[in-house]
Amino acid sequence: MNNINMGNIKILIKGKKALSGSVRISGAKNAALPELAAVILSSGEFEFSEVPRVEDIKVMYKTLQNIGAEGKFSANSIKIKIPEIRSSPVPRNIVETETSRASILILGPLVARDGYARVSLPGGCSIGDRNINFHLDGLRKMGAEIDVKDGHIIAKTTGPLKGIEYEFPWKTVTGTENLLMAAALAEGTTILKNCALEPEIGDLIDLLSKMGADIEGINGDILRIEGKSTLTGAVHTVIPDRIEMGTYVIAGSFTGNEIVIENAVPEYIDSLLDILKQMGVNLEVDENSIRVSSNGGLRPVDVETRPFPGFPTDLQAQLTTLLTQSHGLSRVKENIFNNRFKHALELNKLGTDIKIVGDTAIIRGKTDLAGRGITATDLRASAALVLGGLIAEGETVVANSYQLLRGYENMPQKLQALGADIKIVGVGNE
Ligand code: EPU
Repeated sequence: MNNINMGNIKILIKGKKALSGSVRISGAKNAALPELAAVILSSGEFEFSEVPRVEDIKVMYKTLQNIGAEGKFSANSIKIKIPEIRSSPVPRNIVETETSRASILILGPLVARDGYARVSLPGGCSIGDRNINFHLDGLRKMGAEIDVKDGHIIAKTTGPLKGIEYEFPWKTVTGTENLLMAAALAEGTTILKNCALEPEIGDLIDLLSKMGADIEGINGDILRIEGKSTLTGAVHTVIPDRIEMGTYVIAGSFTGNEIVIENAVPEYIDSLLDILKQMGVNLEVDENSIRVSSNGGLRPVDVETRPFPGFPTDLQAQLTTLLTQSHGLSRVKENIFNNRFKHALELNKLGTDIKIVGDTAIIRGKTDLAGRGITATDLRASAALVLGGLIAEGETVVANSYQLLRGYENMPQKLQALGADIKIVGVGNE
C-alpha cells in the first residue's frame, strides 16, 4: 500500500503540558473521499486544493490510479483525470479497513460511467455493523444488475442507469453520496428522500454542480437530480474538516488550555459547541475561528449521537475523554454504530471510570489519569486516546497509531506546535 509498516506506528506522549497557540484545520477527509470518487464520472480534468494528506486519501488516490487515473498528488493539491476506465477490481488489501467504506463510493460512479464495476465487499469494521444494503438497493432500482459473491460486488448495466424515486430507510452518508453520483449521470430524474445532510454531502453537491450536474435540494432532506449524459472536470477546494475542528476544540477544553482554531466553520460543529457551553467551557466564536479555553470546574452532560445536525458519532470518543474530567456523572448514548466504545476500555487503563451499558457509556468524573501503554482501535478512538495521554501524568504510549494517520493530518506535529510533548515513531519516509 505504501512504505510504512502499519503495525509499528506508536505515539509517545508525556502529559500535563498546557496547550496554547493556534492550529489550522485541514480539508475534510470525508468530503475529499467522495469528491475523488466523483472524478470517475467524467473524462475531464480536475484540480482539488485543501486535500488532507492522510492515509485514507492516499489509498483512494491509488484506487483511482488502478482504474486508469493520471495525475499528481503534491502537498495538498491533486490534479487528476481518468481519460478511460481500466476496469480493475479494487484489491482486497485496500478494502480491509475503514478505507474500504470509502472504496464503496466508487461503485455508483463506476457503474454509471462504464456500465461495469467490481469492488471488494467491505468486511467487518471495528466500530460496528456497516451495512451497504441501501447503496445496493438504490443502484439495483436504477437498473444495475448486482451480484455479491466471493467477497466482491459486481455491478453491470447495459444502457445508462435510470432515474428513480428512492427513500433511504435510514440516513446514510456514503449511501446518499453513492446514489447522488450515480443519479448525476443517469437518464431522467431521480428523487432521493431522507438523505443525510452532513456538510460533506453539501460540498459534494457543490463539486457535482461545477461538473454540470443539475441537483436541487427540496424540503430539507429531499434531493432532486436531473441526470446528464456527460459531466465535465472542475476546480474545487475541499471544505474544512469538522471532525478535526471538533477534536481540537475538545483539546482546548481541558483545564489550563487556551487555543485558537483557525480555518474553522463554527456552524459545522454547533452541536458540539452547545454541549461545551453547557459544560462551562469558554468559547469565543468568530466567522472563521474559535478561541477555546477552560479554567476547570467542568459540568457533566448527557449526550446522544445523531445524524447531522445532531452531535456526530465521529466526535463521541473524543468528547468521552473530556467528560472524564468533568465533576459528576455523564452519559453518552451511541445511536449510529453498535460497537463504538472500544476506546473506553483503553481509557480505563489510564484510570478513567467509564462503564458501558448497552449503547450508553456512563462516565464518572473527575478522575486523575496516569500514563501507560494503550492501543488504538479505530481512527476516532485513537484521537480520544491521544487526548487521554495529553492529560495523564507520565508517559502514555498509543500503539496501532496508524489509525490516527488515516484521518488526521499531522496531528502529532500540530499538537507539538501547541506545546504538547508528543512524538510519533515507526513512520518511514514517504
Ligand atoms: N446503514 C445501513 N445500510 C446502508 C448504509 C448504512 O444499515 O446501506 C447503517 C450503518 O450500518 C450505520 C448507519 O447506517 O449503522 C450509518 O452509516 P453511514 O452509512 O451513514 O456511515 P458511512 O457512510 O459508512 C460515514 C463516514 C464515517 C461516519 C459515518 C456517520 C465516510 C467515508 N465515513 O460512514 O466516518 O462515522 O458516516 O457519520 O464518510 C470516520 O471518519 O472516522 C468515520 C467512521
